[in-house]
Amino acid sequence: MAKKKLVVLTGAGISAESGLRTFRDSDGLWEGYNIEDVATPRAWRKDPQLVLDFYNYRRRDVLAAQPNAAHTALAALEQDFDVHIITQNIDDLHERAGSTHILHLHGEILKMRSERDETLVTGITTDITLGQLAPDGAQYRPHIVWFEEPVPLIEEAAEITSTADILVIAGTSLVVYPAAGLLHYARKGIPKFIVDKKIPHTNVVITPIEAPATEGMQQLQVMLKQYL
Ligand code: APR
Repeated sequence: MAKKKLVVLTGAGISAESGLRTFRDSDGLWEGYNIEDVATPRAWRKDPQLVLDFYNYRRRDVLAAQPNAAHTALAALEQDFDVHIITQNIDDLHERAGSTHILHLHGEILKMRSERDETLVTGITTDITLGQLAPDGAQYRPHIVWFEEPVPLIEEAAEITSTADILVIAGTSLVVYPAAGLLHYARKGIPKFIVDKKIPHTNVVITPIEAPATEGMQQLQVMLKQYL
């Protein structure tokens, strides 16, 4: 029998136990920064060095981090389910844990792209510097979807979500759109779960698993057995 399609929308909370800070918890990333100063096209025009510094630090943090038990549990679920991860995270911890279908809605910190031509993308594991130019002669910028920018993969993500047999939301505050709207694309009546150490508000009927992601994913694995 074909495996059931399990779609998982993840956010910063799933990488928190790997030591990567979330955005909106009390020790969150935006605490020390204004979003407008580092994560918008305006910020890039005004002070590209500050923006590069911010993301260069993020890249170093990601390279130093390891996947945690929540990432590996999701990878292990591929034995029984057709797992599709839609992540808002820019880290590569799902990849390193072994998941094979991962869509990065908000870009990837280990890639950079031409500031002029968004199709000129290449990998980067060191700092990006001013003066580092893409093949089209334009400055390289982080391959990140900033606030106020369109989210190029949102339609693909909506399509994936609309064909889910089971939906899981994990470690996201569900405040940033359009990502937060994705759960409304899931068909009515399919099993839905939300794993978060503090369950965010949603008007969708969804089974809460209120726990840190590493523990919550273990509970989820047990609960999913009924759908095999
Ligand atoms: N286990 C499970 N959940 C956790 C944990 C943990 N150890 N730690 C924090 N959380 C939860 C918080 O309760 C919160 O609901 O993770 C969520 C983190 O929310 P945000 O910081 O808002 O992160 P996220 O939802 O991924 O942000 C969305 O906003 O800033 C932008 O582009 C950025 O992709 C990001 C987007």
